[in-house]
Amino acid sequence: MSQLSIMHVVGARPNYMKIAPIMQAISAASACFKQVLVHTGQHYDYNMSQLFFEHLNLPDPNYHLQVGSGTHTTQTARIMLAFEEVVNEVKPNVVVVVGDVNSTLGCTLVCVKAGITTAHVEAGLRSFDRTMPEEINRVLTDQVADLLFTPSQDGNINLEREGVPAERIHFVGNVMIDSLVKSLPLAQQRPIRQELGLPSAYALVTLHRPANVDDQPKLIELLYTLQQLAVRLPIVFPMHPRTHRRLSEWQLEHLVKDHANLRIIEPLGYLDFLALMAGAAVVLTDSGGIQEETTYLGVPCVTVRPNTERPVTITEGTNRLVACQQPKIMAAVEAALQTNRNTCSVPELWDGAAAHRIVDVLRGLC
Ligand code: UD1
Repeated sequence: MSQLSIMHVVGARPNYMKIAPIMQAISAASACFKQVLVHTGQHYDYNMSQLFFEHLNLPDPNYHLQVGSGTHTTQTARIMLAFEEVVNEVKPNVVVVVGDVNSTLGCTLVCVKAGITTAHVEAGLRSFDRTMPEEINRVLTDQVADLLFTPSQDGNINLEREGVPAERIHFVGNVMIDSLVKSLPLAQQRPIRQELGLPSAYALVTLHRPANVDDQPKLIELLYTLQQLAVRLPIVFPMHPRTHRRLSEWQLEHLVKDHANLRIIEPLGYLDFLALMAGAAVVLTDSGGIQEETTYLGVPCVTVRPNTERPVTITEGTNRLVACQQPKIMAAVEAALQTNRNTCSVPELWDGAAAHRIVDVLRGLC
């Protein structure tokens, strides 16, 4: 094969920092690759999408499918219909998908049925909780994709247990940490903490999972917890559109308004968020990726979820899980604030070079 044509897919906010280092490593690698970027448009607000392209130096997408929001069925179906047209036009040799969002699964299904080699980056992660939409996306994508790039050894173990042949599995490390390593020096120059008037010790909060914020009693419990936590230390909470929508729909805004110590702000760009995360005394979240980023940074993290698909962040890193109950969250935050950071470590191959290891494997296809 003369030149290998690679198509990358992004759709939602957690995808951009995973694709950026791979595209950059491929550009630097050799003339044997040409690459195309497709944005499904699953996320479309400026600060959920375009701002990340700017901060991560991602090129403008060659194709923008503009699928927007909808039910999971509507969104996934729209992604598949629009993506099939692009695939038929470009005829890539390899399609790279990342993470566990609806775009990941939708595009994988299109490719495997069209006989196009599909590579899944961040393969093998399992929460073993099939009520999570992302778990369904992970399990199904890994069953049918051709190349599976895992971020941690537990990913290999999960895939082998599911009967995936060893030759399809490549332990390469964590591409999201590649972006973090590269961007941290820039992020640390951002004056976002001063702009927000935050003191040196503060808590950073992100909550957006359907299991927490689409459940009214749980959301109310979380908001009361934040009120109590704000007495302990100042909080900054860049709020996801899903959470925003629920607050206004259920008229709960008054619970987080007018607290001097509780700042609700719009979602931040990659660099500003990274700056706040690196400087936080503690992070309270229900995100997937933030569990990994805090582990790398050595920042204590409390995750309001019954399980995690990223167990190394607990066994090796700074993460702990907690139920969505006010006294338990308060106790977990206190314990997190006492974390001895010397007992935590960075997992194997979270070293800033995962994308290069992926390119080494892709080179074998040239
Ligand atoms: C998606 C991913 C989730 C990821 C999260 C990060 C799936 C199944 N879920 O969830 O894994 O952690 O992204 O953000 O793929 N909205 C906007 N503007 C946007 C995007 C969304 O207002 O740019 C609104 C939508 O109208 C919708 C809500 O936010 O009502 C949720 O968006 P959606 O993409 O459906 O799922 P997320 O909760 O963001």
